[in-house]
Amino acid sequence: MKNWIYKNYVVHHAESLDSTNLKAFEMAQNQQIFDREIVLADSQNAGRGRAQRVWISPKGNLYFSLVLCPKVLTSKVSQLSFVAIVALRLAIEDVFYCNKNLENKALVQNKWPNDLLVDGKKIAGILLESQNQGQDCKFVVLGIGVNIASNPLNTIFPATNLAEFGVKISAAELLKKFLDKFENIYQNWLDFGFANVRQSWLNAGYKYKEKISLKDGDDKILGIFQDLNDDGSLILKLESGELKNFTAVDLE
Ligand code: BTN
Repeated sequence: MKNWIYKNYVVHHAESLDSTNLKAFEMAQNQQIFDREIVLADSQNAGRGRAQRVWISPKGNLYFSLVLCPKVLTSKVSQLSFVAIVALRLAIEDVFYCNKNLENKALVQNKWPNDLLVDGKKIAGILLESQNQGQDCKFVVLGIGVNIASNPLNTIFPATNLAEFGVKISAAELLKKFLDKFENIYQNWLDFGFANVRQSWLNAGYKYKEKISLKDGDDKILGIFQDLNDDGSLILKLESGELKNFTAVDLE
């Protein structure tokens, strides 16, 4: 692996890995990498998605895992994927809005729990894995995949990539833009908690306050996307008026 440094982040860059999350987790466990260090790969042979899904990872897209060691209780850890997706949204919005050659400015939204959409199609996802020590968080691995040059076809939810919108950016450049945004938002979260991130996430939340359908295995649950809980779970207002929390389901 080749190492490079960007601001206060160390990047460990490999051409190909099974999964940057797997590698970062092993290295963090073996005390080979620490807070604010990143494993970056040009491609992955066994990229992992949420809910044991596969993340198809050919060359040309961004695949990285950021290791963080925040001194927080494990109950706060799930908030970090919202911190990261807000930072990624701001980075991708910058890419669109700062590029004068792009005629069509795209709509960038967060889709619960931790996907990023451009014009209603998935462009990025986050897989958070962590290790705890009792009630305390030992380390977190925030794995992020962004479709830059290509996206898988025939996905459950439609997908897209940056090139489709005429955006030309390298994986390393996009990672740096993400880190520029992430540092401030992460620091704000460490200092003041979830409130700002939560609000910023909701402001660009896909179908927030709208009628949605949640898929839980073969079951479908209908209701209004009412709010986001402190643990990142979705609060659904059922037709009966009852409020119910959801964690491990898919928003359709
Ligand atoms: C999802 O939307 O299901 C989450 C996808 C997360 C993919 C990234 S790519 C970099 C990191 N390494 C992995 O194996 N997965 C994450």
